[in-house]
Amino acid sequence: MFHFFKKKKTVAETYDHLPVTTDIHSHILPGIDDGSPDMQTSLELIHGMQQLGIRRFIATPHIIGDMYRNTPQTIQAALGETRAACKKAGIDVQLDAAAEYMIDDHFLELLKNKSPLLTLHKNILLTEISYSTPPVNIERIAATILEQGYKPVLAHPERYHFYHHNPDIYQHLKTMGFILQVNLLSLTGYYGKSVKKAAAFILQKNLADLVGTDLHHKYHLEAFNEAKNRAIMHEMLEGRTYNDLESLANLK
Ligand SMILES: [Fe+2]
Repeated sequence: MFHFFKKKKTVAETYDHLPVTTDIHSHILPGIDDGSPDMQTSLELIHGMQQLGIRRFIATPHIIGDMYRNTPQTIQAALGETRAACKKAGIDVQLDAAAEYMIDDHFLELLKNKSPLLTLHKNILLTEISYSTPPVNIERIAATILEQGYKPVLAHPERYHFYHHNPDIYQHLKTMGFILQVNLLSLTGYYGKSVKKAAAFILQKNLADLVGTDLHHKYHLEAFNEAKNRAIMHEMLEGRTYNDLESLANLK
């Protein structure tokens, strides 16, 4: 009966956590791509996201042929070091690693040679495409990935500006076999208005199954620390489950 006197929760209190507890896309391993440059930064990023409710990270360093030629070895080594540093710093978090594969000649070579690829879970493979030019033969590439038993995820489809004039492409990418992963910060306008619009479109059409932070640096963390940004994310993701990797892996 005294609920009238209850203090109304502020936006910050209502949305003190991110809408997911597992982050399936981030660049928090130190010194191996354009994400965290050193271990101190990695620990700050991990701790900061933990404060926002992230319990499990699947770090996904870039593998780009002419820029970051990471391998399972370089990634596993960075993962081991980061796990040890977290333990030493008293950060209790589940830390795993996969990779974000740029669909380029190097990737096609890895596929051709049947090199074991790092996956988010079972057969689920995180990929991205160039921001400047769309791949001409993406349908054939998707078919090849599927033939090899992987399920490709396309990272941040909303960030490819060349698709903004053609929103039918998102359904088409799904038909090709891509699982779509939207960046949480895209929903807030962090990457600009047209990206925000594309992200909203993808969610409204129910085309995305995964969301990620794509956390690279402290400016991203600062944006996640804004309660109003988290409120937008919660609102946009309401009513649907995201990041259920097990179900996606079992989907026929
Ligand atoms: Fe990324």
